[in-house]
Amino acid sequence: MISDLVVCDETSFVIEQEAEQDACAREALLDRVMGPGRRRKSSERLRRGQLPTAGLALVARDAAGGLIGSVRLWSILVGCKPMLLLGPLAVEVAFGRKGVGSALMRLAIARATESGHGAIILVGDAGYYQRFGFSAAPAAGLMMPGPVERHRLLGLELQPDYLAGSTGLIVAAAPPYSPNDVKPDALSLIRAA
Ligand SMILES: CC(C)(COP(=O)(O)OP(=O)(O)OC[C@H]1O[C@@H](n2cnc3c(N)ncnc32)[C@H](O)[C@@H]1OP(=O)(O)O)[C@@H](O)C(=O)NCCC(=O)NCCS
Repeated sequence: MISDLVVCDETSFVIEQEAEQDACAREALLDRVMGPGRRRKSSERLRRGQLPTAGLALVARDAAGGLIGSVRLWSILVGCKPMLLLGPLAVEVAFGRKGVGSALMRLAIARATESGHGAIILVGDAGYYQRFGFSAAPAAGLMMPGPVERHRLLGLELQPDYLAGSTGLIVAAAPPYSPNDVKPDALSLIRAA
């Protein structure tokens, strides 16, 4: 079980596993923060009709329990090799730059590692994601199923050299792949004081 403590000056928030009843608030947050164009992204082709990987949909809540952040990971394949696609990651504007995004990322990565996954791929700004270990080099051989700026396709190996020699088209894995039997109720919390 991963557990961690984040200290914030002004804001209290908690990171926990997404619940079924969070769906409406999550979609509203994503619309507000990312705009309607979010549904046209190439990553969306890999997510459409899929459920997030077991145990890897996290939300951030404020002190009143309101949903202020979201991150989800999805099972994908390159050839026969399973890996994860991360996204979208979004934080309510009013809670920006208080470490909420980082807390979501760190717990997601920790839980993916703990669950035995080999690598995470995402499309995003290296300037933000490099602090979590993502870079373009490990994903250099991969192709998204749609237009993407190459330098924004980033990878993080959770197991040594997991992406070495991986080339080809990223496709959605179905049924959802989970290397270990991740228990959704095995909740990890990050508490902010
Ligand atoms: C990107 C995002 C998730 C960051 O959330 P956050 O809670 O503000 O992030 P943190 O507080 O952990 O980190 C803030 C730091 O990241 C930096 N940062 C944020 N977005 C960045 C970007 N695109 N490139 C480089 N740095 C970035 C901030 O400048 C800040 O830097 P500082 O620590 O030196 O002040 C949030 O701004 C957001 O929801 N953006 C809109 C949606 C989006 O772009 N999502 C990512 C692509 S899927």
